[in-house]
Amino acid sequence: MPTLFERGIPIDAINDYSSAEKGPGRPPHWEMAFWWTRKPLAGARAIIAASLLPDNAYQSMESFLNDLFPCKNEKKTVHSCNPSPRLIEKLRGKKLLDPFAGFGSIPLEASRLSVDAVAVDLLPTAYVFLKAVLEYPRLFSDKFVEVDGKTVKELGLEEVAKQFSGRREVSESGRYRVPMLIFDVARWGSWVINRLREDPVIRDLYDADVYIGTWEVRCPHCGRWTPIVGNWWLARVGGADSEEEEEGGRRGFERLAWMEPQKVGNEIMIKIRDLNRELNRKSIRATINTRAGTVTVEGTVYRVPQPNIDARREVATCLHCGNQIRKGKADWYVKEALRDWSTKLEQYLSGVIDLNKLINESLARPRLLVKVKIINGNLVFEPATRDDDEKLWKAAEELRKMWGDPDIPTEMFAPYQAGTAGTFKITLWGFDKFYKLFNPRQLLTLIKLVKLIRQIGHMVEEEKLKEGWNSEDVRKYAGAVTIYLAIALARFVDHNNSVTLLHPSNPMGIEIAHALSMRGIAMQWNWGDTNPFVITRGLLRTNSFSKCLEKEIEALAYLVSAVSGSSIRVKVLLDDASELSKLEGEKFDVIVTDPPYRDDVAYGELSDFYYVWLKRALSEVADVGGVLVRKPRFLPEAFFDEFGNEIDTQWKRFAVREISEVEGRSKLFGNKNINDKKVPVGSFDYFKYLLSESFKAMVTRLKDDGVLVTYYAHTSPDAWEALLEAGWQRTGLRISAAYALATESPQRVTARGATTLDMSIVVAWRRGASGEALADEVYAKAVELCSEEASGYRRQGYDGVNLFVAVLGCALSQFTQYRKIVGVKGLGELVERYIYPATAAAIAKSLAGAETKLSPVSQFYLLAKVLIDRGRAQRRRLDRTSAVILSIGTRATIDQLRALRVIEKADGDLTLLEPAQSRDRRTSIEELLREKGLNPQATTFRTAVDVLHVLEYLALVLKSDELKRRVDELRTRSGAMVDEAIGLAKILAKVLSPEEVEGNLTQKLLDSLGVGGIYEFAKG
Ligand SMILES: C[S@@+](CC[C@H](N)C(=O)[O-])C[C@H]1O[C@@H](n2cnc3c(N)ncnc32)[C@H](O)[C@@H]1O
Ligand SMILES: [Zn+2]
Repeated sequence: MPTLFERGIPIDAINDYSSAEKGPGRPPHWEMAFWWTRKPLAGARAIIAASLLPDNAYQSMESFLNDLFPCKNEKKTVHSCNPSPRLIEKLRGKKLLDPFAGFGSIPLEASRLSVDAVAVDLLPTAYVFLKAVLEYPRLFSDKFVEVDGKTVKELGLEEVAKQFSGRREVSESGRYRVPMLIFDVARWGSWVINRLREDPVIRDLYDADVYIGTWEVRCPHCGRWTPIVGNWWLARVGGADSEEEEEGGRRGFERLAWMEPQKVGNEIMIKIRDLNRELNRKSIRATINTRAGTVTVEGTVYRVPQPNIDARREVATCLHCGNQIRKGKADWYVKEALRDWSTKLEQYLSGVIDLNKLINESLARPRLLVKVKIINGNLVFEPATRDDDEKLWKAAEELRKMWGDPDIPTEMFAPYQAGTAGTFKITLWGFDKFYKLFNPRQLLTLIKLVKLIRQIGHMVEEEKLKEGWNSEDVRKYAGAVTIYLAIALARFVDHNNSVTLLHPSNPMGIEIAHALSMRGIAMQWNWGDTNPFVITRGLLRTNSFSKCLEKEIEALAYLVSAVSGSSIRVKVLLDDASELSKLEGEKFDVIVTDPPYRDDVAYGELSDFYYVWLKRALSEVADVGGVLVRKPRFLPEAFFDEFGNEIDTQWKRFAVREISEVEGRSKLFGNKNINDKKVPVGSFDYFKYLLSESFKAMVTRLKDDGVLVTYYAHTSPDAWEALLEAGWQRTGLRISAAYALATESPQRVTARGATTLDMSIVVAWRRGASGEALADEVYAKAVELCSEEASGYRRQGYDGVNLFVAVLGCALSQFTQYRKIVGVKGLGELVERYIYPATAAAIAKSLAGAETKLSPVSQFYLLAKVLIDRGRAQRRRLDRTSAVILSIGTRATIDQLRALRVIEKADGDLTLLEPAQSRDRRTSIEELLREKGLNPQATTFRTAVDVLHVLEYLALVLKSDELKRRVDELRTRSGAMVDEAIGLAKILAKVLSPEEVEGNLTQKLLDSLGVGGIYEFAKG
């Protein structure tokens, strides 16, 4: 029986709700720790429900939406409320599997719908997060404690207390109901913070809220220390409603501040320029040009210094002697200097050299530039001095005393390229081991935190045993409390290291961008070193340990209320999706999953940054014959192998099984024998192989009439075909529907280096591809049927990319219902010559009633014309997502389309090269020919679209019989293209309104040619 998903879902509304989850609308539990490519909850919820419900479950889409998101009329973020009991009733008892669960959006929404969920991920780090998101909030959701108002306030639990006691205010004398788990995380977290605060060493290490530091190197020319500064800006903070667009624009700044270097003897000192202070104004209207480094306020021009490093070109400038620092012995001097620091640091800590040698004989060292504080609610900058650097060295001395302690993360980074950092990859700069990514103060603080968090487990256990709990519950509960604190630590680790980056221009206040915010851990200048205790509000946004704990509590409050009331089982498994060996014969009603997108994220290598710390916080340290070693404690399966040996890093153990293309892996792991072929681990072929294996494994777990739904968001047509190959050709599934779903956040930071779209193509698969058919016959049937479906979708309000993907889904379902398509060589040809053209033809037919077979470029042009709204612009603009989806679905790549002058890049967006909308059609087409470099006398062309544009022009300047003669001439040279151009003209003339310039031009062309006679365009 077909599902609601296959009949059609209200995709527009669902996409709106999903988009609202970007930025401030993000689900609160995402703030626990960063994970890549998390899926919006609204979309996940809609998909799960629709793929479990029969197609007649709802009379109207409105009532479906009301049941999914009961608060949709009151709230912008519909994930804030649970689905309606009526919907839950319909789904009770169903079972869902997500074998690529990541941070768990899909299983979380399944459980809110009262669907039993099993979440699988290969990586221990994801496994720990999944436990925290899915299992523990429910496990203890029936346990509450009564807390007095004073304690509530001390622990920062006001909001939680209000929420769970249903009160508006918290008073000191009142008593409040608080979920026990949240209470204990807050209480023990505060215990950790207090102990750390009392620590005699730590106490003296911090006297500011955040320190901005960088690296300094010894100048090879003059021998003096010069800081290397990537950005002298400290703050460029605007009012809340004046986002982005600072270049050239004028607006009020709440804070404009930067640093200036000053030579004082042999030192470079930092001078702070804080314009709000200097001018004594709360808000400054200024024009800023960040590239030129100018700030203009009422005619006065201030200059912000230029960075003294350009790492891409491998130059730095000494701030003393002004000389350029280029080559060292074998490499760029700056890189060699940093490697020297790294080597000496290890020598120092292990007792080979002394502190003086470390600090004064290394070629590079960390240096603090500025201290940032919030004083009386005001953001204040102070220059850091050499005395401040002393604090770093004091911490270094402490670390040296504890060298050999297993809490120092001495594991190696993956020694190959993983992620998109390129030449900024940290291992190239000498950071080969995890502990080297922190300055000594940061490292010491983190290690002390690990030790404190580890004690919590014992104390919680003791307490609960005294209260009479049974030992199994005690262990689980102690584990849960410790795990949340360990995750808060992992988040702090991500925000407090020397590959963070000061972000001076967030409109809400300055902040430190975390290390994993890009798809590779990359070398940075201007990192942040954050006081672990500080909680600031106002223009400094920090992620101290205290702040991370605060986020953790908000996250938990969200999760506990999301799952309260549902009696559903959620299981988290550490397993390989290409085997699914731990499921013991279980079968599922539905599988909804989001496999990795080819080369998008090297999950294992990157999340090792968390892993090495989680392992420490959640395992035991025991003295074995005088040596301290790590022993299993909480979630031992994440940190120890089946023989009880510690897992060093994820990359060592899991990189060969992770489903992604990471070329660097093959360097270390070599080839695998697959069907007698040698395939390099980490190659695209290897990725395809493992993806196919995972489809096969999934099918064995799916009930006979169950639906498998996959998300996929890669930008390359090849990656998308890999999915078809895996699901259809290798596994024998057929596609039954497809949608374009808003998914990834297009946030600037996370998108850097990403190959993903901000939409996923979501596909439903079913069992039962069978038999064979002729490609041409299926094509004809697909156009017929899918043009009807296209009309149906249009009646439901689908347009643009939504319409396109839905019709693509229809075409795919026609072809993939057969096990084999006869008459084509490979998948590439099938897709390019049949499936995609059928989609375009079906859409054209639904819109124009005309049917025609077009080349990829013409399909792209046609689809862009009919699907993209021009708005009030002169030419259609395609955002990146629409352009890429159309390109995937026509197999014309963006680069090709640009080279062929079909589209053009214009400030970030792509513009369709079409006759501009203006009053005068002749000028418009002449202009276009000029821009495209087309000569009306030419006889050969790049594309049929070129021919179309030339013919449109000729139709204006030639008499009818002249034009016909000219067309005949062209036919002898470029016959197929001419036919295609006329075919295109016929559709455009029908679809475009006569007010559209090209609608008018094509009509004129057809009239002039008297089409209908000998020029009738051949079908098919
Ligand atoms: C695109 S992410 C899933 C994100 C998730 N839907 C969310 O909303 O958070 C893909 C996940 O697949 C996992 N993965 C990669 N190879 C795997 C394998 N062989 N078995 C299971 N999981 C794997 C990665 O660790 C990653 O977490
Ligand atoms: Zn110099």
